[in-house]
Amino acid sequence: MNSNSQMILQAENITKRFGGMTAVNNVSFGLKKNEIAALIGANGAGKTTFFNILTGNYIPEEGTIYYKGQDITRLSPERRVDLGIMRTFQLASTFDNLKVIDNLRLAYYRANNKATLRNIFFSRMDRIVSAKIEECLETFNLTKLADRMTGQISLGEKRVLEIAMSMVTDPEVLLLDEPFAGLSEVEIDECLKVLYQQVHKKTILIVEHKISKIEDLVEKVGVMVEGVMIASGETHEVLNCERVRREYWKTAE
Ligand SMILES: Nc1ncnc2c1ncn2[C@@H]1O[C@H](COP(=O)(O)OP(=O)(O)O)[C@@H](O)[C@H]1O
Ligand SMILES: [Mg+2]
Repeated sequence: MNSNSQMILQAENITKRFGGMTAVNNVSFGLKKNEIAALIGANGAGKTTFFNILTGNYIPEEGTIYYKGQDITRLSPERRVDLGIMRTFQLASTFDNLKVIDNLRLAYYRANNKATLRNIFFSRMDRIVSAKIEECLETFNLTKLADRMTGQISLGEKRVLEIAMSMVTDPEVLLLDEPFAGLSEVEIDECLKVLYQQVHKKTILIVEHKISKIEDLVEKVGVMVEGVMIASGETHEVLNCERVRREYWKTAE
């Protein structure tokens, strides 16, 4: 069982090596239910590697991942999605030649392993699915874009769509790796707005290079330097601690 039952998702003493290089070195980090946390660090710090261990894309050499007290270290990404641990769909998995609403419908069925175009068309007649999709459009301010072709919306709107697609099945945990990459300031603000709406409603981990955009959003931060988690805890305490000032800030800006 999980040694820390307060946590919904908990990584304990995770180590992942690539050849002789230790990308993640004995990292522990946990998320409480409905907590929003960030994992920050310079490029190459090991953030994405750790993220992929949480999603099941990598199996660590050492350490354990617990989800609601269950050891999921070796579960496939698909099984983790079934359990409610979702990552954002990457841009490559939205279809430009489908309407925004149909991408959402597709995401709904994909999460249920039934993603076919035929199902999208059936879903239009399914009241329960339609209600979920409508609600999701509302939540993410996408209602006005519902019938637009996805290829015609801005990158910022697409990023919001990706988050909406990940949330349409109401997962318990959402994992986001650099959700603001490539976005303009205005688009980042659009994205932040939808994330602020999820505060205290959803368990979310955001992996980011820089903290500046999200320091008011996240309650908890972990800081990685060269594979090591040098500090973690309440956001402002961590950002102000001596070691983080010395080892993170010098590389972050
Ligand atoms: N699949 C891989 N094979 C070999 N080395 C990798 C692989 N993925 C990441 N690395 C290395 O691991 C280190 C951490 O990378 P990564 O987790 O992508 O860092 P971050 O996301 O913090 O920028 C880097 O030195 C990177 O080159
Ligand atoms: Mg990365």
